[in-house]
Amino acid sequence: MADVQINKEAFVSPVLNSSLAKISLESCLMNASGVHCTQESELQDLIEAKTGAVVSKSCTLEYRAGNPEPRYVTIPYGSINSMGLPNNGIRYYLDFIDGNQKNTAKPIILSIAGLTRKENIELLKTASSAQSLHAIEFNLSCPNIPGKPQTGYDFEESKSILEEAFSICSKPIGVKLPPYFDMAHFEAMAAILDQFPLAYICCVNSIGNGMWIDSAEESTVIKPKSGFGGIGGLFIKPTALANVRMFHKLLPHFNLVGCGGVQNGEDAFQHILCGASVVQIGTTLWEEGTACFDRISQELIDIMTKKGYSTIEDFRGKLREI
Ligand code: DHB
Repeated sequence: MADVQINKEAFVSPVLNSSLAKISLESCLMNASGVHCTQESELQDLIEAKTGAVVSKSCTLEYRAGNPEPRYVTIPYGSINSMGLPNNGIRYYLDFIDGNQKNTAKPIILSIAGLTRKENIELLKTASSAQSLHAIEFNLSCPNIPGKPQTGYDFEESKSILEEAFSICSKPIGVKLPPYFDMAHFEAMAAILDQFPLAYICCVNSIGNGMWIDSAEESTVIKPKSGFGGIGGLFIKPTALANVRMFHKLLPHFNLVGCGGVQNGEDAFQHILCGASVVQIGTTLWEEGTACFDRISQELIDIMTKKGYSTIEDFRGKLREI
């Protein structure tokens, strides 16, 4: 039997190109908001890394120091955090984006997370008038502010704030959602999101209010909120994939961003199979630094090569249901 010959000249290495908020991206990988994106130097690292886009730390109107430390801890299978929105205030990020978008074609997305509705509206108005800003990631899912519920778990408030957001803000707006766990909640949120021209839907933020315990010390491992914090990392991959998949099925015409539990190229591949156009990396970026983008890009390219895919559109959303 003759050996199968690979025609090397015809073989073209796969590419990871994608798009977000109608902007072409050279890679479908980017950071998750919150990780390595609070300081200018960190944002600069992300711009120089193998990312297709960059998103800044969720910001408020003014600088916030955040919660007392320890407030982020690596745990088996993931992470727990209750950072409390430490950030430099919206002006800092808009100035950075303004200064930077002249030099880079890579979009830098502004994440906003006001502590009150009034603050969110002010943030949206401020962002709306920022010249070189491409898109806003409106965080409806910050779980770590004592006494504040997540907007994404309040359907009436979600609808009403999105109505106001689109009436006052002319920039493309994407939303970052908390994870949902019940079909009725997926359907209720999808019905609301469907009423707005969202630039994208990002699933998921951390699983809120988890707990990790140090048995030897018989204590919590993070200081804020009596030890309760958002869970990220491998722990949450099944929940993240389910959320991406469910929103892809309910809202197939929306641009989806997958976030949760991406440690390697195969995890990214699975998010894309579920329907994600872009995959965000949080806990792994915290652990490994921006070199994780080189590694994960190569791993994803290797999987695509083996499977004979040349672009992510060849398999995006095409998860086989048995
Ligand atoms: C924080 C955590 C989040 O999950 C989020 O979406 C926004 C802010 C924080 O604690 O800083």
